Amino acid sequence: MKHYLKFSDFTLDEYEYLFKRTALIKNKFKSYERHQPLVDRTLAMIFEKASTRTRVSFEAGMYQLGGSVVHLTTGDSQLGRSEPIEDSARVISRMVDLVMIRTYGQDKINNFAAHSRVPVINGLTNEFHPCQILADLFTFIEHRGDPSNPLACLRGKIVSWVGDGNNMANTWLQAAELLGFTVHISTPRGYEVDQSIAGLTSSHSFKVFDDPRQACKGSDLVTTDVWTSMGYEAENETRRIAFNDWCVGPEMMAMAHPQALFMHCLPAHRGEEVAAEVIDGPQSVVWDEAENRLHVQKALMEYLLLGSL
Ligand code: CP
Ligand code: NVA
Repeated sequence: MKHYLKFSDFTLDEYEYLFKRTALIKNKFKSYERHQPLVDRTLAMIFEKASTRTRVSFEAGMYQLGGSVVHLTTGDSQLGRSEPIEDSARVISRMVDLVMIRTYGQDKINNFAAHSRVPVINGLTNEFHPCQILADLFTFIEHRGDPSNPLACLRGKIVSWVGDGNNMANTWLQAAELLGFTVHISTPRGYEVDQSIAGLTSSHSFKVFDDPRQACKGSDLVTTDVWTSMGYEAENETRRIAFNDWCVGPEMMAMAHPQALFMHCLPAHRGEEVAAEVIDGPQSVVWDEAENRLHVQKALMEYLLLGSL
């Protein structure tokens, strides 16, 4: 049994398979062709933080695959009334085939997985957001590569990360280490990535820049995220001041390769981490990126439950 708790849980071969499978599943979806390998399977989705994309993509995705879903939140379950996570994992995993969790610390999802009888998927933790990076990479492959040889277009590329050294940044770093691209990262002082939290084996796959414009130089993909992630709302005002120079605007995009794409996992705040003319401009692929959550996660759920087909 496999879990998907962080990007480095899968090998290169597994990613090659997943991206090829995603292309097939997406094609079927676009041509209204049924693809229902998960009939009678149930996914439990546990949300301890808010969500739009993750909820809709997992829920719609599981129904499209022929299965069904159970939606739980902290407020409407015993999870919010201090039932131990180990007990919740033991019970829920006796009743469903697959569990997706969005929570706070990675230790919580690790603990759940350790006591689960079924595969567990990370739908975002404070440390990682692997399903989002799966969608981002597939989006890059669709726009700049060849889905029949999906990993080739990623090798040697530069991805610029402008903003917080958060769960998205950590996951980009893990992906770069495995897939052979480099992340140019610029964060305000005090918001740097922590190599040990990101779970990197070396520092070869990223370079740190004080100036966000320099981080965008020659980039193939510029990406950012909110200044304040869920769970850090008390720091909102301090962050607003610290991140003032880390807004991706046209001048940063002009430093990048002319063919560079712009991505944002969403939700976005126009005028904070990104200028409206960038996120709504011609280099932005944020709507494809959001849609691809559906397709990559269908491939992921199918793989975790049925293996490679
Ligand atoms: N990108 C993402 O995970 O969005 P939601 O918070 O809406 O799920
Ligand atoms: N870094 C953001 C991502 C939201 C999808 C957060 O954790 O809130």
